[in-house]
Amino acid sequence: MAQRVLILFSHPYAEASRVNRALLNAVLDLPDVTVHDLYEHYPEQMIDVEHEQALVAEHDVLVFQHPLFWYSCPALMKNWLDTVLTFGWAYGDDGDALRGKPWVHAITSGGAANVYQRMAYNQFSIAELLRPFEQTATLCGMPYLQPFLTQDVNQLDEIALQKRAAQYAAWVQALVDGDLPPVVHTAHAPQVDFLEGA
Ligand SMILES: Cc1cc2nc3c(=O)[nH]c(=O)nc-3n(C[C@H](O)[C@H](O)[C@H](O)COP(=O)(O)O)c2cc1C
Repeated sequence: MAQRVLILFSHPYAEASRVNRALLNAVLDLPDVTVHDLYEHYPEQMIDVEHEQALVAEHDVLVFQHPLFWYSCPALMKNWLDTVLTFGWAYGDDGDALRGKPWVHAITSGGAANVYQRMAYNQFSIAELLRPFEQTATLCGMPYLQPFLTQDVNQLDEIALQKRAAQYAAWVQALVDGDLPPVVHTAHAPQVDFLEGA
């Protein structure tokens, strides 16, 4: 049976977007896929929580599509998480509305993959930077899947961008078909902590 995929798209300057726009255009007409443009829907950032929770309930897989902004997500996506993932619905007593629904990001970044490494200027891998999202998903009982990353976007010429958009459409179609990317477990990596008394 087809999995119903909800793409929660967050981009504050969508009209100026090149990469996300191309990716999104490639999936707009896919059956069983709903594209929900958060900035278009909520220009004043006043999120209708009941509406969002009902929309989530109608879908099996959540895709958060967004550009990487300051090693994280755009503000409205954070606002969405803060307001929609309520106690008693997303987590806590009887809060099981999201349990079992996979969470996956589709992220674009200016930086190339090789600058997201310990010795490079961004120091941390994308997986490390996304840990707050991974743990949020885990708290809500959602399998947190390996993201679809489009990096070094300024180097993508028109042909490469169209190819990437076609790959995105195939990736989203695989989600619909239930052919999911692997689950991420960065908690299994060696742990680094603040020094006690430092
Ligand atoms: C406010 C802001 C913050 C950004 N932060 C990052 C960042 O932390 N890491 C990175 O690799 N690129 C960063 N970028 C670059 C964007 O990720 C890049 O412009 C975007 O993915 C391009 O997609 P678009 O054509 O859909 O806008 C940032 C861009 C803006 C405007």
